[in-house]
Amino acid sequence: MTQFEIRAKDGLARLGRFTTNHGTVKTPLLMPVVHPGKSAIPAQALIDEYGFQMVITNSYIINSHERFRAKALSDGLHSLLGFDGPIMTDSGTFQMYFHNLPEKEIEPVEIVEFQRDIGSDIGTILDVFSDPDVGKDKVKEDVQKSFDRAKISIDKKGEMFLAGTVQGGIYTDLREAAAKSLASLDFDVHPIGGVVPLMERYRFSDIVRITLAAKKHLPPDRPVHLFGCGHPMLFAQAALLGCDFFDSASYAKFAESGRMLLSTGTVHLNELDELPCSCPVCSATSADELKSAKKEERELELMKHNLFVSAAEIRRVRQAISEGKLFELAAYRARGHPALYEALQAVVKEAQQLEKSDPVGKTGSIFYTGPETTWRPEITGFHSRLIARYPYKKTMTLLLVSDSGLRPFYDTFEVVIKEVRKRSADDLLLLFVTPLGVVPWELEHVHPAQQCLFPESLDPETLEAVEKRTRNVLEMLSFQDAVWFKRNSNVDSAVARLQKEYQLDTVTSASEVVSHLPSEKENVSWMRRKLRALFIHQWGKNAGEVADLENLEIVLSKNTGKIKHVKLDDGILFTIVPTTGLITPTLRGGKELLRVGIDDTYKVIMDSEVSQFVSSGKSALAKFVKHADRNLKAGEEVVVLDEAKNLLGTGRSVLSGEEMIAFNRGVAVMIRHSRKP
Ligand code: GUN
Ligand code: ZN
Repeated sequence: MTQFEIRAKDGLARLGRFTTNHGTVKTPLLMPVVHPGKSAIPAQALIDEYGFQMVITNSYIINSHERFRAKALSDGLHSLLGFDGPIMTDSGTFQMYFHNLPEKEIEPVEIVEFQRDIGSDIGTILDVFSDPDVGKDKVKEDVQKSFDRAKISIDKKGEMFLAGTVQGGIYTDLREAAAKSLASLDFDVHPIGGVVPLMERYRFSDIVRITLAAKKHLPPDRPVHLFGCGHPMLFAQAALLGCDFFDSASYAKFAESGRMLLSTGTVHLNELDELPCSCPVCSATSADELKSAKKEERELELMKHNLFVSAAEIRRVRQAISEGKLFELAAYRARGHPALYEALQAVVKEAQQLEKSDPVGKTGSIFYTGPETTWRPEITGFHSRLIARYPYKKTMTLLLVSDSGLRPFYDTFEVVIKEVRKRSADDLLLLFVTPLGVVPWELEHVHPAQQCLFPESLDPETLEAVEKRTRNVLEMLSFQDAVWFKRNSNVDSAVARLQKEYQLDTVTSASEVVSHLPSEKENVSWMRRKLRALFIHQWGKNAGEVADLENLEIVLSKNTGKIKHVKLDDGILFTIVPTTGLITPTLRGGKELLRVGIDDTYKVIMDSEVSQFVSSGKSALAKFVKHADRNLKAGEEVVVLDEAKNLLGTGRSVLSGEEMIAFNRGVAVMIRHSRKP
């Protein structure tokens, strides 16, 4: 049973905890490679002085040197390395490949047993490393051989965690097949192997493609290790794809050849007059001093620098995940090298895979970094849900308003908003056209509508996406007249391209807009109209009925005029969170949602054994989830029930439905309101 848990998600990235017999580590994680005999910086120093948490070493090297082997077998691996924290071991696969060793050099089962016997925390099978240049038939054979070895290795793991490496060269179908078959065995970690030559040749987009292919089929509760990925410029992007573990021999290898790792790329010391880094090494010396130092000393200093930089970048990655800003970090890093930028294009090609995993209900701002921003999962996710759920499909007049860049949207033209509030959706729909696509007036406060910061002039790819998304929305609506309020906006050229086809009547002032509106009606409740759209946006079609309840009291914020609470008989049913624009139900609100029959996606069923626990307000743990829907995303507001369908509480999902089922550790739903508060 794997000992992994997820605390937060961002794209496919996971902020996690992994518990070994020698301690718990935070993921994403970087393991420096240590040599059992001649590590310039010993394992304990890597932890104490650089902040690493786990190291990796090579069991093949230990096994093939009698003095290491004897000590490891008698005193244990931890004693050999003088370190009692978590240690992962590799099997010798890479040495077999790199030195072209004969097949009999390492016996696949013996090397797994050896890793177990010396007390490794995570051992690795002897997978077969496929060179990216060899043909598909050969790679297919290699994948089969790796799987055969996996099968005979798995029974030998004992108390040790075992890593089952996904190979398959550059062929995504082989990677998918390999991941699928390895998933059926009781592995604890899945490395993605065979990528070192791709990294050395800057073939990063191949790495993106094969990683995403493998991720589709790997069990979500097992950490994924990108084997041999030690360059800090790659961490953000790889973590965004769902890689949890990294290992670095690069810190030493690059130092040996006089190269410095930076989070933005690589520089050779010889090219430098100044040291472009703030680590303790670079702060205490100068480029000239380093250049003129003795080779050994220089190498050691560069190694230390490489470690400091790598450790800082992995911390930065973890911080970015917890803020929901990893995509942004990956986009900055992609500017470090054209090949990395190209790889980012390969990521956005698979935007759907990212969107499926990305949590809803984020709060942070979204800064434009370039054309890729339009494919951020928050933005594509908002649009997908809009198309799937926007409830007002038929109207008389459609009013398209280009975004003026001011926030919130309605502050920018109060006259028009006043009029819109007096008309029902049957008569008038108001849609803002913004750089992220269409934002209907009813959903204007839902993240990320207000939180995106785009520049005044937009790139062609973003404009094309705006045009396409606006077209999607226009196609799903039926209307008699369409008016476009054009306001010197950065999206004007995108809307202009739709003007003829949809006969958009262009106006340029608020007073002109008003003259185009259908006449107002009595008894129109703009608040209920907004609420209905929000309920449906969050919980599907039936949930809209809540907005029709007769005695609802809708409370507006005194400061902002926005809807704040929804009350019934003096009790609060729902609160709208200002930072996300989303509705959170109280326990009574949860009951109401159940009464109208919300989509089953938003019901999480717990083992009745923990009814007491959850109904007293404790988190709903993944281990006790009986049922969760495959379509449930992380970050949703859900109702939590016991097996008899009694409501225990309401809260926010930390995991997706699929993850809730897969995981045995960690929180599935953070309870906000419970039966007995
Ligand atoms: N180290 C770097 N790449 C690999 C790989 O593909 N498999 C194993 N076992 N170790 C590696
Ligand atoms: Zn430095």
